Amino acid sequence: THSRSYNFFIKESNHTRLCHEKTILTVNGQFPGPTIYARRGDVVVVNVYNQARTNITLHWHGVNQPRSPWWDGPEYIAQCPIQPGNNFTYKVIFSEEEGTLWWHAHTGMDRATVHGAIIIRPSHGKKYPYRRKPHKEIPIILGEWWKDDIRKVLADAVSTGGDFQPSDANTINGQPGDLFPCSSDDDTFTLPVKHGKIYMLHIINAALTNGLFFAIAGHPLTVVSSDASYTKPFTVDHIFIDAGQTMTVLLKARRRGHSRAGRYYMAARPLATNPQATLDNSTATAVLEYSIHAVRSQPEFPTLPAINDSSAAAAYTARLRSLASKEHPADVPRSVDEHMLVTLAVNEIACAPKEAPCKGPHGNHFAASLNNISFETPHGGDSILGAYYRSALRGVGKKMDLPDNPPSTFNFTADDLPPELALTARAMSVKVLAYGTAVEVVLQGTTILGGDSHPIHLHGFSFYVVGRGLGNFDRHQHPAAGAMYNLVDPPHQNTVSIPKNGWVAIRFRAVNPGVWFMHCHFERHMVWGMETVFIVKDGNTRGAKVMPPPPNMPSC
Ligand code: C2O
Ligand code: CU
Repeated sequence: THSRSYNFFIKESNHTRLCHEKTILTVNGQFPGPTIYARRGDVVVVNVYNQARTNITLHWHGVNQPRSPWWDGPEYIAQCPIQPGNNFTYKVIFSEEEGTLWWHAHTGMDRATVHGAIIIRPSHGKKYPYRRKPHKEIPIILGEWWKDDIRKVLADAVSTGGDFQPSDANTINGQPGDLFPCSSDDDTFTLPVKHGKIYMLHIINAALTNGLFFAIAGHPLTVVSSDASYTKPFTVDHIFIDAGQTMTVLLKARRRGHSRAGRYYMAARPLATNPQATLDNSTATAVLEYSIHAVRSQPEFPTLPAINDSSAAAAYTARLRSLASKEHPADVPRSVDEHMLVTLAVNEIACAPKEAPCKGPHGNHFAASLNNISFETPHGGDSILGAYYRSALRGVGKKMDLPDNPPSTFNFTADDLPPELALTARAMSVKVLAYGTAVEVVLQGTTILGGDSHPIHLHGFSFYVVGRGLGNFDRHQHPAAGAMYNLVDPPHQNTVSIPKNGWVAIRFRAVNPGVWFMHCHFERHMVWGMETVFIVKDGNTRGAKVMPPPPNMPSC
């Protein structure tokens, strides 16, 4: 393996957006942060020096880190955070991923500004599985910007138990674009292109609140991979990309003479499945510019689905299929050893009498849960991985198993569910799996407190999305459900969009021993506890055991 290394200095730096300067946390002063380049099979070394005033960890989103959870990142799950003045060296192990991924902070809400692209090319001597070599590869990072300090946004929500303040703008490569008052061409991302060339766009949804529609006026996009796994190519006018997901698309620049206009808008518009969480006019823009045209013309605007068009998102998502070729086969578990039904809910937790006044629903705190358990993250002592490795798990909290099924069965997606269903318990509940188990998890949305969609992300694995539907998953139908399942070429992802009022079934083999976080990639749901941990035990063979921790692990 060939190994590149990067130095990441975590530091505060000042940036102006929407006419307002603020101090943000960055890597090397850059926002978005630097791009990591790798080839399949590489091990990339990232030396992180914390020069900021707060704790930090970094996560390599979608990199499975085989047998090496020590470098996975989530604070208090995989490691104790890197404290100010300290450093930690991560090894990022690329085994089967190829395409677009990203890295981000995994402490508090720091990932709002601490993130960047990861571009993984085929291993030496191997080619992309499509004919034309791209002229250039461009990261397109979709994000979100708050005028307020992100730590204040988080602290306000946590201390009042109320909702998070919506962001002020979406962004493309860090810029809201020129549709916002008080922004100019200077702070619009511009992509110069040459006639007739192919561009590979590495699109990342780094936003904290929403899935996004993305399009470029006058330019169809050909989707070739999703979550660093090749897809059967398909061409669309717009894509839908949920929070945390990545897609690689090919853009064919128009031939000379085929267009008179030299500039086209690209735009990212949220799909607001919870209207309270999103401002209506937060669409970000950037500009595609043919370098031959020096003249500044008003760019053409792309057609995008409306902000509440869930069916447009579903129609796009349904088109994703694994490439499932000889060189890139789909290895879908045909049978399942362990079947879990997991409900996703936004809930409430009682406001203590002394506390107050709580600004969540019914004067309570907001919470969010899996099978009605809101995850309690340890906050010191040791990480869950550290405690598990040293066989001291009970020391970090009351260990409790995540039940395989919701504690009660009801019509999960009915209108106006009774308010008592909104109450949840808090616990550090984990799910333990034997090495090699073939797992199916059905993620079932609920309409408790109105319901929402959820981009569920699993660390340590990519999974096959074998089924999805609206309404309630019908477990009685399940043994015969083969017809509605795709076991041939389902998409292979690390983050899956669970539609509001619907369900999704995922399958994976638990062949990566370690401690792996699973959570909603909407920041507010994660902070409220929509998360759990899979502990995959060691297998009997030598290649089936967790590697020992590196000597320089931070301590709590
Ligand atoms: Cu992209 Cu646990 O995160
Ligand atoms: Cu969620």
